Amino acid sequence: MNNFRFCSPTEFIFGKNTVDNVAQLIKQHNGTKVLIHYGCKSAEKNGLLDIIENSFRKEFIEYVKLGGVQPNPIDSLVYNGIELGREEKINFILAIGGGSVIDSAKAIAAGILYSGDFWDFFDGIAPIKCALPIGTILTLPAAGSEGSPNSVITKTDGMLKRGIGSSLLRPAFSIMDPLLTLTLPRCQTIYGIADMITHVTERYFTQTKGVDITDRICEAILLSIIQSSKILMQNPENYNARANIMWASTIAHNGICGVGREEDWATHALEHELSALYNIAHGAGLSVMLPAWMQYVYTAGIDRFVQFSIRVWNFKNIGSKKEIAMSGISSLKNFFQSIGLPTNFEQLGAKESDIDKLIKTLEINTNGKFGNFLHLTMNDARAIYKIASNS
Ligand code: NZQ
Ligand code: ZN
Repeated sequence: MNNFRFCSPTEFIFGKNTVDNVAQLIKQHNGTKVLIHYGCKSAEKNGLLDIIENSFRKEFIEYVKLGGVQPNPIDSLVYNGIELGREEKINFILAIGGGSVIDSAKAIAAGILYSGDFWDFFDGIAPIKCALPIGTILTLPAAGSEGSPNSVITKTDGMLKRGIGSSLLRPAFSIMDPLLTLTLPRCQTIYGIADMITHVTERYFTQTKGVDITDRICEAILLSIIQSSKILMQNPENYNARANIMWASTIAHNGICGVGREEDWATHALEHELSALYNIAHGAGLSVMLPAWMQYVYTAGIDRFVQFSIRVWNFKNIGSKKEIAMSGISSLKNFFQSIGLPTNFEQLGAKESDIDKLIKTLEINTNGKFGNFLHLTMNDARAIYKIASNS
């Protein structure tokens, strides 16, 4: 196991009606003028915005609103948020939504206090030295941004989708009421499931030895996501399944699964180019790219794939390592298909003829090399995209 430091300071307020705590929580974090940041429709439609505005009025918390965050959030709204936040002298940001809203809020939180262009952080030109505190009300369990130090934004000029990480971007608090996820369309629920599964596999598939504790944590999360997903597909209103999926999204990506080990992140790198080019859901792209990546790399660490098959998919240790490893990969793919996720380019609306475009931006974003389980080049990326397009 590698040495590590781990700090996840976010306070999680989990359960039914926990939104009632929002005003008090903001006060605890000295928020007096709040930017409420949200998406396109859902926060207004499901009444959440009204509830929050009423509670702010009651508690005399001043606020301004900025809605309109689109899935795969873009830089232009971040610039608007920075400008509005400075004009209004806000000192706290409340994000209501899924990963896109939270990521946009994080970029605004850091950008407001920076004299240069916030994209410098994403270009790696400037480190984040300070950020306004943010709180979140999570409405979609998927990206894990409610507990992560990351923000992923697309620069529309060149459609560059990039992520940054800084401990200063971890939310001060995240309110997580599983009941808020009942309004999710089925497709968003399953895209979220693909995302949280991949957040675990990006850490699970490592060459670092002696990491049994995190292996077991990863496997437990995967097993319970699979189990809760099956329940949700039969009964989307099952509270405990919603609750388990929601908490899984957080612990899959707050860092606990990755401590002491080298993480991979090749599947995410491959996917971000798809969601940037086609503006598709991140989770949909992942459910196509993860089995393709696995198929390409498994020989680089076959014992780990055998372990995955035995411990997560319940295969017996009988037959060749290759057979056992491939069975686990097929099981994951079958599971994705069984809940309605895409597993090839065609189902995603992606085209093999666009692979050159995907490679072009991937090369810019990765400097030509990515992945740690197996170090990958653009030739490897091309081969993996081909597997995904011919699956
Ligand atoms: O915009 P509204 O109307 O709110 O609708 C949203 C959006 O269309 C809808 N939605 C959210 N909650 C709802 C709801 N609809 C009905 N009822 C509710 N309760 O869901 C749609 C998708 O939302 P979005 O926030 O885009 O989804 P997700 O949470 O999957 O976030 C995806 C983004 O997160 C990034 C992805 O790349 C992508 O840009 N990621 C961020 C990470 C991080 N910050 O740590 C890590 C991830 O790997 C990922 O890259
Ligand atoms: Zn993800």
